[in-house]
Amino acid sequence: MPTKVEKDAITGQDTTGHEWDGIKELNTPLPTWWVYSFYACILFAVVWWVLYPSWPFINGYFGGTLGSNQRLELDQRLAEARASQAQYLDRIEAASADEIMADPELLSFAVAGGQAAFADNCAPCHALGGAGQGPYPTLADDDWIWGGSLEDIQYTINYGIRNEHEDSRINDMPAYGRDQILSREEINTVANYVLSLSGRDHDSVLAGEGSVLFEEQCAACHGEQGEGVQELGAPNLADQIWLYGDSLEEVAQQIYAPQQGVMPPWIGRLDQEAIKNLTVYVHTLGGGQ
Ligand code: HEC
Ligand code: HEC
Repeated sequence: MPTKVEKDAITGQDTTGHEWDGIKELNTPLPTWWVYSFYACILFAVVWWVLYPSWPFINGYFGGTLGSNQRLELDQRLAEARASQAQYLDRIEAASADEIMADPELLSFAVAGGQAAFADNCAPCHALGGAGQGPYPTLADDDWIWGGSLEDIQYTINYGIRNEHEDSRINDMPAYGRDQILSREEINTVANYVLSLSGRDHDSVLAGEGSVLFEEQCAACHGEQGEGVQELGAPNLADQIWLYGDSLEEVAQQIYAPQQGVMPPWIGRLDQEAIKNLTVYVHTLGGGQ
């Protein structure tokens, strides 16, 4: 390939002397502003290498003349944060849930901790803020299945409901249909009676028949008026709040073969401070008793 530098007739620039199929390459210089920016960047980089941690050595690295170290700074800030929390953590460890409630400073610390632990561990079922979803009860209202006192809530969180733990809360409603305790017709009558308790649409003749069955079969757990019994974890059937639905089919289905909601135990999985924080947090959501 011939390499002959010549002047381009149109632009007046030199060519590089490279030529492909009659096309010649112009040797246009880089713009001055670009060249100086480039030099400035190189200079900046060199200064930076000297001031800040940069070159790796075999055992470590050049630390920079400013001695700056973000990891150390972070460690320092975390240690400070921990030290300022330590006094609270120690107090929460020593206090009962009642004592935490009585101390406004401790309470706000515990609620903040409880909120974070709730979002991590409980929200997948109970939804953020304990709003509840589907068969997972709302924890932000004053309707309690197992009780809304600090003690009740703490017990529920520690041991859970219908799980393998020996201290778990347990009460299994019989499967009236599946285990052939009641016929389909009987289930239909008692389901109509259940709907009548909260003033829902129902067949009053069937409900009248169902009331006798309710008295015999259901009142022992759910109470004479279906008002629920917290010691037994039997929900109120006379209110507007339903775990498994308020239609005739859904209520009849629950009587036929109950769903038996399960909640895992948290004792052993979370430390007792976290469980106290959660107890206090759930209690303050709106309906603590
Ligand atoms: C796997 C799903 C699941 C998770 C996770 C879960 N729960 Fe539950 N929880 C339930 C179910 C189901 C019930 C209702 C059981 C029943 O029918 O009695 C319940 C009930 C409760 C109750 C009793 C409500 C009442 O009305 O008496 C409390 C309090 C509670 N959960 C708190 C928590 C807290 C706090 C956490 C997180 C540490 C948590 N739960 C995590 C499923 C869950
Ligand atoms: C041994 C106690 C027990 C008996 C007896 C019992 N129940 Fe229940 N019932 C429960 C418990 C506990 C739950 C909550 C189940 C759960 O959370 O999974 C429940 C839940 C229900 C629900 C669902 C409530 C909701 O919020 O969705 C209905 C409806 C119901 N029972 C109706 C009846 C009827 C009708 C009878 C009688 C034919 C009856 N129960 C007998 C303990 C009982």
